[in-house]
Amino acid sequence: MTTPSETRVNLSQIMSTTEANLLGNIHGGVLMKAVDSTAGVVANRYAGGPAVTAALDEMTFLTPVRVGDILHTSAQLNWAGRSSMEVGVRVEVDRWDAITERTHVASAYLVFVALDEQGRTKPVPGLDLETAEERRRFREAQIRREHRLSRRAAIEASREVGAVGTAGAPGTAGGGA
Ligand SMILES: CC(C)(COP(=O)(O)OP(=O)(O)OC[C@H]1O[C@@H](n2cnc3c(N)ncnc32)[C@H](O)[C@@H]1OP(=O)(O)O)[C@@H](O)C(=O)NCCC(=O)NCCS
Repeated sequence: MTTPSETRVNLSQIMSTTEANLLGNIHGGVLMKAVDSTAGVVANRYAGGPAVTAALDEMTFLTPVRVGDILHTSAQLNWAGRSSMEVGVRVEVDRWDAITERTHVASAYLVFVALDEQGRTKPVPGLDLETAEERRRFREAQIRREHRLSRRAAIEASREVGAVGTAGAPGTAGGGA
């Protein structure tokens, strides 16, 4: 069995002018892509094949990243279910013009689902939790999972109620005499 620390992947890249927004800082979408890519490497390796991104939790950008800065993304598996996995990612920068402590830019949690050759969901191995920190992350990932699934179920239920409520109402599809 694999431990979360064995799944860890660290990637670093220099930010260039092609990644800048209108203010000259690095575009948020570039940071999100780096997060998704790094987490994807963790998920694909752990699943032993392709895994797709099913969800990306709210991501807060704490400080701007500038052209020339070195962006570091560190990701590791927090939780594994039947076919889904949660990967945690931390984004930091080294400033290009000073030797200082690394600056925390953002953190994110992503859900990946392993797929087989036919595109069906595929089981992933169980995770071996060794340390108290790994057990804490696993427990917290389970709480996030419950929230994601209950939010999704609540939205689906509300859509069903909405569809029944508007069926036949004047001015809506399906309505009229
Ligand atoms: C992700 C995807 C395969 C899930 O399909 P699905 O029909 O919902 O599959 P299931 O209902 O069997 O769920 C599979 C697993 O994902 C989990 N899951 C699905 N959506 C989820 C969400 N929004 N949040 C948390 N978990 C989720 C389920 O709980 C289940 O977990 P488990 O097997 O560990 O118990 C499907 O929605 C998909 O293909 N989405 C598009 C993915 C994509 O294109 N990503 C961008 C490019 S990589």
